[in-house]
Amino acid sequence: FRPKILANKRVLVTAGPTFEPIDPVRGITNLSSGKMGYAIARAARQAGAEVTLVSGPTGLPAPYGVHRINVQTAQQMHDVVLSRAAGHEIFVAVAAVADWRIANASAQKLKKNEAGDVPQLQFEPNPDILAAVASLQNKPYCVGFAAESENLLEYGEAKRKRKGIPLLVGNIGHQTFGKDENELVLFDDKGHQSLPRADKQELARQLIGEIAARI
Ligand code: C5P
Repeated sequence: FRPKILANKRVLVTAGPTFEPIDPVRGITNLSSGKMGYAIARAARQAGAEVTLVSGPTGLPAPYGVHRINVQTAQQMHDVVLSRAAGHEIFVAVAAVADWRIANASAQKLKKNEAGDVPQLQFEPNPDILAAVASLQNKPYCVGFAAESENLLEYGEAKRKRKGIPLLVGNIGHQTFGKDENELVLFDDKGHQSLPRADKQELARQLIGEIAARI
């Protein structure tokens, strides 16, 4: 239904939250629904690309024609993405990756005891998947997302530079998580540009157009 602007391109997308276990039945996650990342994977496929979607736990069905790989933790997402990134022309990091994982996760379910002791969780940092891909020798065109709650214009450009990527897409985190609509600001080396509030699938289609115009 549209020109195949990504024909013969391979696109790798991360989406959804990650889940960091505390014990076999508990864990830490976040409110990402996966909708924006899935919409981007779908739009890329509709634009003619071969699409791999590396997804944290979401309730969403895989978009038609998209190869989905399910993961739980940030480390698993990192390992899957890094083993595949070099074979792709475009990488879009949409996942809300947990910054930290639990260093002292328990192999057995934590039990309450008589004394009422509470678990003492310790954290350690997760790898930054986007920064790792952006520093590869043979890297795809890298697109990052930033969910900020304030000062989006200032933080957006700073984050683009810090991650070492050509395109960063900003949105206001608490206004997008779980919603069907979003509003994006694109940051590149020429400045910034807004994609006004619209359905996530429509924004994904516009974003794919912007990416195709830049590669
Ligand atoms: O630094 P911050 O988490 O705000 O950066 C967000 C961007 O970096 C998103 O594109 C996200 O998918 C990506 N990211 C990542 N691995 C992490 C943290 C963030 O790929 N550990």
